Amino acid sequence: MMRTLVIRHLLLLLLLLLQPLQLQGGALQFSSFGNISEEFLEYLEEVMGTGPTRPPTQKKILQMFIAEPERPLLDWDYCSSEMMMRNVHYRFQCVTKHYFLCVSYEYLKMLCSMSVALCKNGTRRCRLSSHKIEGVYCNLTEGDRMPNCHYETIYRKGHALITCRWKKETREFIPDGVDDIVLLD
Ligand SMILES: *[C@@H]1O[C@H](CO)[C@@H](O)[C@H](O)[C@H]1NC(C)=O
Ligand SMILES: *[C@@H]1O[C@H](CO)[C@@H](O)[C@H](O)[C@H]1NC(C)=O
Ligand SMILES: *[C@@H]1O[C@H](CO)[C@@H](O)[C@H](O)[C@H]1NC(C)=O
Repeated sequence: MMRTLVIRHLLLLLLLLLQPLQLQGGALQFSSFGNISEEFLEYLEEVMGTGPTRPPTQKKILQMFIAEPERPLLDWDYCSSEMMMRNVHYRFQCVTKHYFLCVSYEYLKMLCSMSVALCKNGTRRCRLSSHKIEGVYCNLTEGDRMPNCHYETIYRKGHALITCRWKKETREFIPDGVDDIVLLD
């Protein structure tokens, strides 16, 4: 997995060196590079583009926020390696904090149908889990750009505060991000 990531970044670098990006209607075009997968092009547009980032899909939420059941959360290197393998960054800049939760996507989606709670910063757009959830809080300790982002791994068991967004097509709230894991007493 790590190797794939390195190759992916090398390929990206190559593309950037060899081919000037042509921005057409917001989409990046790589005409002379043959058959690059749609997914890869979307990935490039997402990380290299200048427009607003796309709202996360279910796949993206799973990739970015849901802990892998097999891996022990107490691993000291958990955050640095997971952030790298799962490609969590903001256009290659390190994100300063991040959370991985031991829950299913369906559970998060269920939380989105609950009443609104205060986020950590006081904004009224979060949902709070009534169950205690295990997870990991990743706190950036070093670095500013991928792949040099280093994180401290902090195990947490508490109530998850998540953000949701309205999906027009299905007329429902769906998970959008993790705001915090809070320790209520
Ligand atoms: C690109 O690959 C897909 C399947 O991987 C194929 O269906 C498509 O025809 C290919 N396109 C070109 C231009 O080679
Ligand atoms: C996160 O890291 C910053 C500095 O790197 C530190 O000041 C802060 O206390 C850390 N937060 C936690 C909850 O450990
Ligand atoms: C407050 O936190 C929420 C959820 O993390 C975020 O969406 C919002 O942009 C934040 N607001 C401000 C003013 O930072």
